[in-house]
Amino acid sequence: MSKQIKPGSTIGIIGGGQLGRMMAFSAKERGYRIAVLDPTPDCPTAQVADWHIEAAYDDLEALKELAERSDVLTYEFENVDAQTIERVLEKVAIAIPQGTELLLITQNRLNEKEFLKKAGISIASYAKIETEADLTEGLKTLGYPAVLKTIRGGYDGKGQVVLRSQSDIEEALDLLGKGTCVLEEWVSFDKEISIMVARNETGDVVTLPVSENIHQDNILLESIVPARVSEDTSKEAERMAKTIAEKMQLVGILGVELFLTESGKIYANELAPRPHNSGHYSIEACTESQFDLHIRAICGYPLPEVELLKPAVMINILGEHFDQALELNNTQPSWHVHDYGKIGVKVGRKMGHVTILTDNIEETLHAIDETKIWN
Ligand SMILES: Nc1ncnc2c1ncn2[C@@H]1O[C@H](COP(=O)(O)OP(=O)(O)O)[C@@H](O)[C@H]1O
Ligand SMILES: [Mg+2]
Repeated sequence: MSKQIKPGSTIGIIGGGQLGRMMAFSAKERGYRIAVLDPTPDCPTAQVADWHIEAAYDDLEALKELAERSDVLTYEFENVDAQTIERVLEKVAIAIPQGTELLLITQNRLNEKEFLKKAGISIASYAKIETEADLTEGLKTLGYPAVLKTIRGGYDGKGQVVLRSQSDIEEALDLLGKGTCVLEEWVSFDKEISIMVARNETGDVVTLPVSENIHQDNILLESIVPARVSEDTSKEAERMAKTIAEKMQLVGILGVELFLTESGKIYANELAPRPHNSGHYSIEACTESQFDLHIRAICGYPLPEVELLKPAVMINILGEHFDQALELNNTQPSWHVHDYGKIGVKVGRKMGHVTILTDNIEETLHAIDETKIWN
């Protein structure tokens, strides 16, 4: 086992958004110091970090400075260039326990799909698309509707086009103009669910309870935990997540997004090599949060089994909900209102989230409706 990163050491985080901020909270509680690399002044993580290196993620000198300041490195998003990180690691002897292999797989949808297939995990049929001819051929095989996705850089539904008929081809070709894509068969799912899995170098593997996710305009709106699915489905999701973690030799936390069909079949949709929005509920609802597990894992500590303390509903606060949602601090004192401290409120931008612990999910969903903030 490699050496443990002890409290008092510095954790360097590449990326300064809300995920880094919540990682930092968890790390601070355990006595660590935080250095963050992010180009935005006063970004969410910088507000709670000891050092902020204000530079681009692919700035080699800045990454080197981050590495020199830190005892261990982690990233809070997958679109960091793996090669740049490798170049830094050649110069500075520092661990990045999550590794760069994980990045190479998850920052490229094709690599991710190939990995999942090899790991024996069910995924929707797909085809690699580089030319108009590939697209025509792919649509012949997969049929309408289908989804065309860029292999790199997509998030919150950005970088995708749903093809329902021939008339969507133009839009799809525009997307293809940006680079190689993958065409996916449409999965007419009954529910979207997700599961977080953490693993450390010694091989402890633990999962968080399965979350049921409701999206609006392709952005996660709400997570319900436990997911309203059968015991068998939860067990199968857990098995899939653990298989993925083991085959990847994961260190840290990883989110697995899944589609559940009416007949009970589960397909993996995507992987996130980091904490995930649908795991935020774990801060209040679980014995360990996704951020706690991540910090423990990258610092080389054992991972405990996690229990759900209470069912929960998590709902995102986007720019358009922000002012009203902050009022919940007055009107709903038992709701946990998180504000990421972002400067600049924009429609569709994730500004915070609310977690509600509950004994009655349906009543809570109704109470959320009653606020009229999200409908
Ligand atoms: N093959 C598919 N069939 C049905 N719905 C899909 C498919 N792929 C994506 N979607 C829908 O689009 C959303 C976003 O797609 P996803 O691949 O998760 O990209 P990202 O979250 O990176 O934007 C999914 O959560 C799902 O609702
Ligand atoms: Mg997704």
